[in-house]
Amino acid sequence: MKVITLNDENEIGKVIGDYFCTLLRENPAAVLGLATGASPIPTYQRMISRFNAGDVSFAKVRTFNLDEYCNLPATHPQSYRSFMHAQLFAQVDIAQNNTHFLDGNAMDEAAECSRFDALIEQLGGVDLQLLGIGRNGHIGFNEPADAFTQGSFKVQLAPSTLEANSGYFIDENMPTHAMTMGVGAILRAKEILLVATGAAKAEAVRAMIQGEITPQLPASALQNHPKVTIYLDPAAASLLK
Ligand code: PGA
Repeated sequence: MKVITLNDENEIGKVIGDYFCTLLRENPAAVLGLATGASPIPTYQRMISRFNAGDVSFAKVRTFNLDEYCNLPATHPQSYRSFMHAQLFAQVDIAQNNTHFLDGNAMDEAAECSRFDALIEQLGGVDLQLLGIGRNGHIGFNEPADAFTQGSFKVQLAPSTLEANSGYFIDENMPTHAMTMGVGAILRAKEILLVATGAAKAEAVRAMIQGEITPQLPASALQNHPKVTIYLDPAAASLLK
């Protein structure tokens, strides 16, 4: 694991956004693994400004998002499909049908998870995966568990996740379940970049990098991946020894 501490989230966003753009200039049809939440927003802003400058095109890019809420219409403003549309897709030249999500409303959940996992493999796997980390060490929505997950599955969200994300749902309860890529599938990405900022992430960051590898701290599995870079701000890095 390579660990890089930068001044703030905007500096991190510039570095990672530029890294994605460099990949797309070499491989315009790359398969990108994308994340939602606050952490990736500066990265998406950098991609958009590089697109507006004419430096990069997303026309041939294929994307897979890590996770999606269950029992929330795809058109709901807090669905992750809506998030990606607002934060990136509507502002670049990506083709909508090249953007892939788990369908959190699928009747046959197991079939939906198999479809998603098979499609990733069919398109050659994820070339570059962007990740955030939860305060409890989750990646995607892989919450602390007794065993590492493999393929996509439906998960009950942990209390700390509900607490962290309920602020996005003003007048309604947030979904209690989601569908997520499993840890094993995330680790199959050829390269992974993880962003963590703020003191609330410091303990999870310490455990991910310097703790034991355990499914109780799902992000610790990244220690087993050959090409991971962790981008931190000083607050998120503050508990590293
Ligand atoms: P955040 O979420 O970027 O909104 O902090 C990260 C996560 O829960 O994985």
